[in-house]
Amino acid sequence: MDAKYCIISRRSVRKYSPEPVSEETIRKIVDAARFAPSWKNTQTVRYYAVYDQALKEKIAENDTLGFEFNRKTITRCPVLIVLTSKKNISGYEKDGTYSTPMGKHWQSYDAGIATEALELAAFSYGVGTVTLGIFDADRVGEDMGIPDDEEVSGLIAMGYPVKQGVAPARKSVDELLSFVRSSKD
Ligand SMILES: Cc1cc2nc3c(=O)[nH]c(=O)nc-3n(C[C@H](O)[C@H](O)[C@H](O)COP(=O)(O)O)c2cc1C
Repeated sequence: MDAKYCIISRRSVRKYSPEPVSEETIRKIVDAARFAPSWKNTQTVRYYAVYDQALKEKIAENDTLGFEFNRKTITRCPVLIVLTSKKNISGYEKDGTYSTPMGKHWQSYDAGIATEALELAAFSYGVGTVTLGIFDADRVGEDMGIPDDEEVSGLIAMGYPVKQGVAPARKSVDELLSFVRSSKD
């Protein structure tokens, strides 16, 4: 499967077939995702693959800020990936100060890149995913028992899709892209 096909064809999947996603498949997906770029190659992202239905339901009920779609998605997905980041590394100097005026931004940036890599890898194995942004990270961290030196950066629901979704409209290249040249170019 070529990269452009994956990037264009991946869709957010919120309805899953009952077919389980094996640990072996999750391993293969993370084996690819771990090659995502990161701040100074610090690789601060960690992946927790939650199969425990009771725990998924706890997160769905308590931690989705009343957003019904996400409550249902988390309850129904065969696997929930809780993506965490090791704190105070990405975007930081060794003495604990920020490396740039953008502060903690780079930790989230790394988590975003890692999420896209994970989702594209999953797609290449036929596994559907959706990034979930509406949740309470601290509460998920508590419910999961995440270590103190990590914080929750994202949730990704995962499972085999019931059907292939249609892409929501995208902006045109002309709207998104500006070329910047000197007057001599
Ligand atoms: C940062 C981020 C947060 C998102 N949060 C949610 C969410 O809370 N619930 C949800 O169902 N989808 C969520 N999505 C999925 C987007 O709605 C989806 O990517 C967008 O509509 C484009 O559709 P596509 O992924 O099928 O191309 C999120 C996506 C991103 C990147």
